[in-house]
Amino acid sequence: MSRQRAKPVADLGPRQARLEHARLEEEIAEHDKHYHQQDAPVISDADYDAMKRRLLEIEEHFPDLAALGGVSSRVGAAPAAGFAKVRHARPMLSLDNAFAEGDVADFLGRIRRFLNLKIEDDLTLIAEPKIDGLSASLRYENGELVRAATRGDGQEGEDVTANILTLKHGVPHKLHGRGWPDVLEVRGEVYMTRKDFLSLNEAQDKAGAKIFANPRNAAAGSLRQLDPKISAQRPLRFFGYYWGEVSEPLGKTMQQARGRLADWGFTLNDPVKVCHSFEDLIAYYRKIAAQRATMAFDIDGVVYKVDRLDWQDRLGFISRSPRWAIAHKFPAEQAQTILENIDIQVGRTGALTPVAKLKPVNVGGVLVSNATLHNEDEIARKDVRIGDTVIVQRAGDVIPQIVSVVLEHRPKDAKPFKFPTHCPVCGAPAEREADPKSGEEDVVRRCTGSISCPAQAMESLRHFVSRNAFDIEGLGEKQIAAFYEWGWLKEPRDIFLLHRHAEALQRKEGFGETSVAKLMAAIEQRRVIGFDRFLHALGIRHVGQERARLVAMHYGTPEAWLEAMDAAKDREGEAWGDLNSIDKMGDVVADAIVTFATRRHSRAVIDHLLAELREVVPPEKPAQDSPVAGKTVVFTGSLERFTRDEAKARALSLGAKVAGSVSKKTDYVVAGPGAGSKLADAQKHGVTVLTEDEWLTLIGG
Ligand code: IVH
Repeated sequence: MSRQRAKPVADLGPRQARLEHARLEEEIAEHDKHYHQQDAPVISDADYDAMKRRLLEIEEHFPDLAALGGVSSRVGAAPAAGFAKVRHARPMLSLDNAFAEGDVADFLGRIRRFLNLKIEDDLTLIAEPKIDGLSASLRYENGELVRAATRGDGQEGEDVTANILTLKHGVPHKLHGRGWPDVLEVRGEVYMTRKDFLSLNEAQDKAGAKIFANPRNAAAGSLRQLDPKISAQRPLRFFGYYWGEVSEPLGKTMQQARGRLADWGFTLNDPVKVCHSFEDLIAYYRKIAAQRATMAFDIDGVVYKVDRLDWQDRLGFISRSPRWAIAHKFPAEQAQTILENIDIQVGRTGALTPVAKLKPVNVGGVLVSNATLHNEDEIARKDVRIGDTVIVQRAGDVIPQIVSVVLEHRPKDAKPFKFPTHCPVCGAPAEREADPKSGEEDVVRRCTGSISCPAQAMESLRHFVSRNAFDIEGLGEKQIAAFYEWGWLKEPRDIFLLHRHAEALQRKEGFGETSVAKLMAAIEQRRVIGFDRFLHALGIRHVGQERARLVAMHYGTPEAWLEAMDAAKDREGEAWGDLNSIDKMGDVVADAIVTFATRRHSRAVIDHLLAELREVVPPEKPAQDSPVAGKTVVFTGSLERFTRDEAKARALSLGAKVAGSVSKKTDYVVAGPGAGSKLADAQKHGVTVLTEDEWLTLIGG
C-alpha cells in the first residue's frame, strides 16, 4: 500500500482509525517476524518505518489505541514522549576491564601502590560474577521504593519506576527487616534467566511478535517498555551489587554491606568469594569460567572489588570507573562463516572503514552479519579475500571482528580486495595523511571532502544530536538524511533554523502536526546547553565525552575557550602550555582542538552555532566550595601521609588543579621530606609552602 495516498490521520474517523490501526499492527508484526526470525525481510526498511510512523501518528490522535500495548510500544528506542529523565544523585559508573591475568596483577599493584601497602599487609577483595544485563538504580526513602532509573549516560537515566515495580524477583517494594538508612539507592543489574528468555521467545514466536537475540536484549527491551503492563509480563529479575546515595554507611566492608542488603530483601550476585591474593582471584575466575555454560543466566566475566569501604573511598575514581574494582572478562566467542563482500563506510571524520558482509552466523547467541575489518592494512595483513571462510569473534558490546582466514577453505576464485582511493560517497580523493612528526603514513584513509561530503556531514550531524551531545529526540538518522536531502540541514546551526520549515515539514509524508511540534519543542529546549555537551557535539577528533568535560571545566565558557585557542595558535607560549596542562591532553589532541577552533571553516561552524544558542552553561566543577577549589597545587618530596597518586586524586576531587612544576601561577607547594629544587622555585615565586599536615588541615583532614 502506498502511504502517500493514505488519508491524513486528522481526517480519520474513530472507526476507520481502529481498523487501520489493527491492520497496521498485524502487518508490522508479520514483518517483524520476517525480519527478526527468518532474517528475510520482504519490504524495505523505509517502507517498514513509514508503516510504524503511520501507526504512531494514529496513536497520537487516538491515544486509546496506543493503550492496548501493541507493536508501537515495542519500538527499539522510546518515542519522543518517552520516559521522564532522572538525574542520579551519584553518577552511575562503569568498570575498567581486565582481559589477561597480567591486567589483574597490574590492578592489584596499582591499589597497593596507591594505598602504600606493605607486602605483608592483607588486601581483601570480593569476587562475584559479572551479570550481562542492564544496570538500574533503585531509590528507597524511609524503606519504600520511590524511584527506579536506568543508567542512561551515567549522570541522567530514564525513570522506569512503574516497570521495576512489576518485577517478581529481587526488588522489595518495602525493605525487609530494620536498620536501613532513610535514603538508600541500591544499584544492580536487571536481567533475564536463560530459561525465561527461551520461553519468552517461544511465546513471542506464537504471537508473531519480536524475537530477541539474547537475554540481555530481551531484558533491555522489556524494561524500556512505555507500558508497564508489558514489562509485568516479562520475567525480569534484579541482582544488587552496589549502592548510590546512602544517608548512612552500610558497614565497614563489602561483606557487611552485602549482608545488610540481603537482610533488607535483595538478591545479590552469587557465588561470591572472599579473596586475599592474586592466586585466589584467578582460581575463582577459572572456576566460574568453567561453570559459565551451565549457569542459569549469561555472565561475561567476574568482578573484583576491594572489601574495605574506607579503602574504596581513598581509592576513588578515575574518569568513569572506580579504582577499587575491575571486571575480569571472559574470552570472546568465535565462529566460522563466509565473507560475502566488503563495504566501505564513511565516518564523521571521513575515515573509510571496510565492513565485512558475512553470511549470518550465530556467535555466542547473537546473529552476526557485519564485522569490522578496521582499515586497508588490516585487510592486507590478514590477506582477507571475498569468498573466504573467516573466523569472527565478538566480545561484549564491541563490534564483531574478523580474526583470521581459514586458508584451507579458500576458493580458487577468491578475489583480493582493492581498497578505493576515492570516497565512495562523494568521489573526493581519499588519502592517508602522514604524521607530521614521524612522517609515517596513517593507517586510516580519509575522504578529503570534509563536510561537503554528504556522508561526513550527515555523520557529524548525527553525532551532534546524539544522546551524549545535544540529545535532540525526534531527530534521528532518517530525519537528518531527509532534511539534508531537502537542503534544510548542512551544519549544526541549521537545526535551530528548522522552525522555518515547520509548515513545509507538516505536509511531508510521515510528519504529523504533533510530531513536528514535538521536534521543534525538543530543539528549542536545547538552546540552553552544557559547555561540555557543546564541545563533545562538535566532534573534534580525539575529543570524546571525557575530554570535552575536562576542557569545558578548564575554560568555563566558549568565549574564554576560543580566545585561548586563538592565543595558542602558534603552538607555543602560555596559552598552548595551559591547554596541554589539562588532564588527558597530549600534543596530538591539543593540536586537533586548536586546529578545529581556529580553522576558518570549523570556526564558522562554531560561531554560527553560538549565535543560535541562548546560553552555554559552564559544567559543574567538583566541590567548588572547597578551600582549594580553583587553586593550583604542586606536590614534591617523598610524601609520608599519603601517596602521590592519592594526594593528586584528592586535590582534583576538591576542585584544585595539580601541576608538575612551580610557577608564579602556583598557589601551594606541599612539600614532604627531601624536597629539592621545587622548594627553591616556590621561594623564588613567593608561593606558600605547606607541610603534609598543614595541607590536610587546609582540606579538612
Ligand atoms: S560493580 C561503581 N558488580 O557491569 C561500579 N557491576 O561493565 C559498580 N555489572 O556498570 C559496578 N555485574 O552494570 C558490578 N557484580 C557486579 C556486576 C556489575 C554486572 C555491570 C554493571 C556495570 C557494568 C560494567
